[in-house]
Amino acid sequence: MLQINPNLSDLVADAAAGLLASLQSKATITAAAPGRVNLIGEHIDYCDGFVMPFAIDRYIVIAGCANGTSEARISTALGDEIAVFDLSKPLVEGDPKWSNYLRGVIRGFQDRSYHVPGFDAYILSSVPGGAGLSSSAALECATATFLEGLLDTRLQTREKALLCQKAEHDFAHVPCGIMDQFASAFGKANRLVLIDCQSGDPELVPFENPDLTVLIANTMVHHELSDGGYASRRKHTEDGLAILGKASWRDVTAADVQDNWDQLGDPINRRSRHVVGEISRTIEAAAALAKNDFETLGPLMAASHDSLRDDFEVSCEELDIMVDIARKIGRQGGVIGARMTGGGFGGSTVTLCESRKASEIAETLASEYEKATGITPQIFASRPSQGAHLVS
Ligand code: GLA
Repeated sequence: MLQINPNLSDLVADAAAGLLASLQSKATITAAAPGRVNLIGEHIDYCDGFVMPFAIDRYIVIAGCANGTSEARISTALGDEIAVFDLSKPLVEGDPKWSNYLRGVIRGFQDRSYHVPGFDAYILSSVPGGAGLSSSAALECATATFLEGLLDTRLQTREKALLCQKAEHDFAHVPCGIMDQFASAFGKANRLVLIDCQSGDPELVPFENPDLTVLIANTMVHHELSDGGYASRRKHTEDGLAILGKASWRDVTAADVQDNWDQLGDPINRRSRHVVGEISRTIEAAAALAKNDFETLGPLMAASHDSLRDDFEVSCEELDIMVDIARKIGRQGGVIGARMTGGGFGGSTVTLCESRKASEIAETLASEYEKATGITPQIFASRPSQGAHLVS
């Protein structure tokens, strides 16, 4: 029942073969960038909060080469229409729609005065799309890393992540925070990427206990983040901060929210309660994890989900069902904690569990979810993995 994560070296070989078959070109540069899962700290990366994602062992791979022209020609393993665009001018949005992630990143390089030469490329992915696992950040970071190879240059990791975030803002119109691109760019094997989103400093925290397994359960339901739900939540938090008259959410206490409940008004008061609560939960969770204190960590994950469901209203029935199944399995059955992960409105849940019970838990999640919804979920285990890199 547990899906096997495709091996990165197989993806790399398949991408080279795909490039040859679709564009008759030989790969000289290959870049890989992972998706991410977030253990806790949801919808607070744009509120100066703390978030605790890691780069998963699911990658977007781009294989390509310079083509001696001033055009980019890009094909994908999904058999999408080949994207062709002129690199002699600053790139703007265009068709096909998926090419905008690449266009946005290339534009970021052009804005830094790089002359991006013509290239052929082929894109292959093992990051499920629309599953709340940041396939778009993976595509952006893979593109940026590919361009580093093509231009024989290296950006600072933070600058690369910020360039990719700007591409998401300007070319995909999702006003995202920094979590996804930071996780994809900074990720390392056996490390969580604990990010203080106020200072913008990622800290790599060990996560290598073989007795712990992270299960990702894709509900297979998805609503586009760009449909306005994400942007409206972000706006609520900005309005809340303005009403509270504070410069940063880090300066707001739970009492501030309670004392100004009516003035904040619904739903901004509930959105605000989520932000303040989630910031402190994430700090507590990081401390609990460092001490292997799972009795504290589990309830924090549960409280995070409930707050996202009731106060921030970014969960959905399917996510709630998946989380409830994990809760019913409970500590006795090996589940430490479970919650929705990522932007929400569909997507995936994350279940932290005991490794020796992981397969059994995955079976139960899959069968009970299917019984309740009629949908077959995708369930796989993931370990923190290497972030965006050039494959030699
Ligand atoms: C999306 C965004 C992130 C973050 C999460 C919610 O994944 O891209 O910046 O806000 O939602 O935590």
